[in-house]
Amino acid sequence: MSVTIRQIHPVFVGEVAGVVCRRPLNAEDVAAIEAGMDEYGVLVTYRTAGHIRKREDQRLGPGIADFSNLDKHGNIMSDRDRVWFFKLGDRLWHSDSSFRPIPAKYSLLSGRVLPSWGANTEFADMRAAYDALDARTKAEIENLVCEHSLIYSREAIGFTHMTPEEIAAFRPVRQRLVRTHPVTGRKSLFLSSHAGAITGWTIPEARVFLRDLVEHATQREFVYSHAWRPYDLVMWDNRTTMHRARRFDRNEVRDVRRTTLAGDAPTIEQVA
Ligand SMILES: [Fe+2]
Repeated sequence: MSVTIRQIHPVFVGEVAGVVCRRPLNAEDVAAIEAGMDEYGVLVTYRTAGHIRKREDQRLGPGIADFSNLDKHGNIMSDRDRVWFFKLGDRLWHSDSSFRPIPAKYSLLSGRVLPSWGANTEFADMRAAYDALDARTKAEIENLVCEHSLIYSREAIGFTHMTPEEIAAFRPVRQRLVRTHPVTGRKSLFLSSHAGAITGWTIPEARVFLRDLVEHATQREFVYSHAWRPYDLVMWDNRTTMHRARRFDRNEVRDVRRTTLAGDAPTIEQVA
């Protein structure tokens, strides 16, 4: 069976059929998925079969990041845990690792154990958001450069207790505000809660403007909300979309795992 994709949201988001996750993909399937990502920005695969494993076998292999609310002993994290504070920052709209010099290309998130209420992941199409800007704003932002840091996004939720090592590790990196997709040529807004400054602007001007842009870019018509079911796999293009986690009862387990594909080059080098 080969990969087929159908659009499930008026603006973006495709649903993939024909992928068997436990089997390596052939070149044709990879090309179909890549083309689907270029077109839809987010791809959803529902209930991939054949993954029932015993608890003791659920060890995350190399390259798989644990995005659950469980600690290393499998217990629900304390709400005083610093890791939990870092995780709460993911409730703000962001693009994964936009605080790194070469930000992520794709992220793949696998839902294993989901809470009984809430915990949706929402996605917003930054190409549609760019297209809907007025001409004056498009011209104004064309060559703007933002400064992104994990410190800015955590500061936004009042979590400011960073160690000197963290402050050094999360020194702001520069990213273009407008990105051009290398294949489709479509422009998109590269926004993220990690963006906390615009080069050459005062901080208050930059923060107010970025807040305006995020509000514009996340209006409901550009947003898809994914209600998780066990073993859904969702992948998204961080170059063309933002996402955020939604609330859930923190006394329930949320076991989700993510892997990320690195991007190719710093956005700052990208030709406008
Ligand atoms: Fe994320």
